[in-house]
Amino acid sequence: MDLSSKKVVVTGGCGFIGSHIVERAAGVGAEVIIIDNLISGREENLNGIDGNITFHRASVTEDIEKYMTGADLIFHLAANVFVAKSVEDPHYDAENNIKGILNVLECARKLDIPKMVYSSSSAIYGDDVAVPTDENQPISPSSPYGVSKYVGELYCRTYTDLYGIDTVALRYFNVFGPRQTGDNPYSGVIAIFIQNALDKKPLTIYGDGEQSRDFVGVRDVVEANISSAVKPNLKGEAFNIGTGSSITINKLADIIESMAGKLEREYAPARKGDIKCSTADISRAQKVLGFSPTVSLEGGLEELFKLYQGKS
Ligand code: UD1
Repeated sequence: MDLSSKKVVVTGGCGFIGSHIVERAAGVGAEVIIIDNLISGREENLNGIDGNITFHRASVTEDIEKYMTGADLIFHLAANVFVAKSVEDPHYDAENNIKGILNVLECARKLDIPKMVYSSSSAIYGDDVAVPTDENQPISPSSPYGVSKYVGELYCRTYTDLYGIDTVALRYFNVFGPRQTGDNPYSGVIAIFIQNALDKKPLTIYGDGEQSRDFVGVRDVVEANISSAVKPNLKGEAFNIGTGSSITINKLADIIESMAGKLEREYAPARKGDIKCSTADISRAQKVLGFSPTVSLEGGLEELFKLYQGKS
């Protein structure tokens, strides 16, 4: 599939990752329809993005079929993305992540939209897995968020089997990059740490800080989405999208300190639902999607630090 002449729906298109997909798709000439309720997305994420883009402020749990007529492809990103929020309010998480994807797939079925790329998560694995983790490891989520993201994958596969919609699930590890904000306690750790470093506030570390994460750059995540969109017959398959290496939160704090100067650290109790070790085995994505991460953690952090400095 060549995206240039296609009509593409991006749910969550005003969000951190979604807005980068909008930019990439519009950049190659696709007509882009955004559906976003602006709960975690921000309209200003679209500033400076040129192209044929229409934005509808709506939740994926509402009647959105009318916005999707004639679409060739859906990137489904709209969701609750906060693990801790799902522990506090599992109904909220399920409403957005389970009802949301079902509603979007139903639209695809009714409107004969042939393809959907679903943003899933490594949170579906939990802690009972071999690390690095490949896609054949057992699914055993530690949080309601991990459960809801996996339910989404099951729906995708079912809609592929029942109706021939070519779905694919991308299991993101920890995504970082421009447009990720550190302004709420649920935000991604990198965005929070950089924001706090610039504000000279202490870094809060949950647990002993020895939990590890595989941080993947948003540019690489976008390319995984595009490759998945253009490759036919993925038939509900799932792919890990990470880098294959990870660092602990303590080491992440060290790197941020090396850029910002000495920072205070406050240790707080571990968050419920937090997984301990997370590293992707990305062999399948490399082989099938030609996925090849290019953003290094250090390079990406330096770029982000400069960007945030310019803004504050
Ligand atoms: C993140 C994503 C989630 C994604 C998942 C995939 C965000 C907000 N969440 O969840 O959507 O599906 O990766 O694995 O991007 N931490 C601190 N101090 C802080 C903030 C966080 O110590 O101020 C710790 C957390 O307890 C956790 C780690 O840093 O152990 C990462 O946290 P976070 O960035 O919130 O991401 P995940 O929970 O891994």
